[in-house]
Amino acid sequence: MPVTPRLAVGFLAVFVTAAGCASSAQRIEAYKTGARQTRATSELKRGINFGDAMDAPNEGDWGWSLSTSAFKAVREAGFDHVRVPMRIASHCDPSPPYRIDKRFLHRMDWAVDQALSNDLGIIIDLHHYTSMMDAPKAHADRLVGLWRQIATRYKGMPRAVVYEILNEPQKKLTAEIWNPILARAVAAIREIDPDRLIVVEGAHWASAQDLRDTLQVPAGDPNIIASFHMYAPMYFTHQGFGWMEPRYQTRGVTFPGPPPRPVVPVAAADLDPESHAWFQRYNSEPAITNPGGPAAIIEQLDIAKAFADRTGLRVYLGEFGAGINADLDSRARWTRLARQEAEKRGFGWGYWDFCRNFAAYADLGITGRWIPEIKAALLD
Ligand code: BGC
Repeated sequence: MPVTPRLAVGFLAVFVTAAGCASSAQRIEAYKTGARQTRATSELKRGINFGDAMDAPNEGDWGWSLSTSAFKAVREAGFDHVRVPMRIASHCDPSPPYRIDKRFLHRMDWAVDQALSNDLGIIIDLHHYTSMMDAPKAHADRLVGLWRQIATRYKGMPRAVVYEILNEPQKKLTAEIWNPILARAVAAIREIDPDRLIVVEGAHWASAQDLRDTLQVPAGDPNIIASFHMYAPMYFTHQGFGWMEPRYQTRGVTFPGPPPRPVVPVAAADLDPESHAWFQRYNSEPAITNPGGPAAIIEQLDIAKAFADRTGLRVYLGEFGAGINADLDSRARWTRLARQEAEKRGFGWGYWDFCRNFAAYADLGITGRWIPEIKAALLD
């Protein structure tokens, strides 16, 4: 039977898709048996977050999807790992055993395979479990159930595959509620995969303070990494983003403070006593004490270092980044300082993000290019 060109294209697409899925799954199996090798390690020293792809409600909804070229670009630049935020809890059954969608699992396989094939470690980060933040206890079993499935799927994979239980516990998921749930999730993974590296973080958006003061790390487990996120000062890193509160909408905040000319805060910031005081000090105080200067970063990193010293645990700065509404020179200065100070304290890190609101890379569709100033701030 003659095949029309249109049919041929359709047939080819089906064939390629099926082959693509099969080959990722096969390669995952090959990694498990050792038939396939990677040079990726579990050191997680310098990484980048692939934000806004698999953490969108559906990948692509936020205008970007993971691609083979993105993994390649990250490896070629000299990073050693990626942290991949994944909205896993939005792609599973609501009732036990909380089966994760096949298509999503295949996409996870693909991401894991892409990372290892490019000699990159990968953190599977369970991200944006928003309903858990509003009703934590009602979702605890599901979180544990998801980790049972993931641990079963990737048991036997190279050590460069790392799990992160839950991104940024927040709202009603207070430390008091979070610590026992975290312990349950880790215990469930340990029944299946005793030695896998697991990243854990504290309440209040994975703050350094909660890392130091409230996080209870499951004791006696040598394969736990404690993580925190750092975006201080928020008036600089998160300026002008529509999802932020009105008091963060002042643009033109430079780093470090004080600015050459005083910055006039938006009305909402002026009316808020804390923001008002921040801008007053930012506009007037010398760099050494300025709340928009290096001290803001160093304070956070020192808090995490105090935790590291007390516990002897490995600490990872899982997110930090300067948003694209700030001027590029300020972004580069902030990023370099944060990165260098993190490394001085022995923390591995993951910059947020690759090509979106905090971009280190300009995504141009099929191709793209690193933003030289940010890339240099991270790697030189
Ligand atoms: C969130 C992103 C946000 C970033 C910086 C991440 O954890 O998932 O939506 O852009 O933090 O605020």
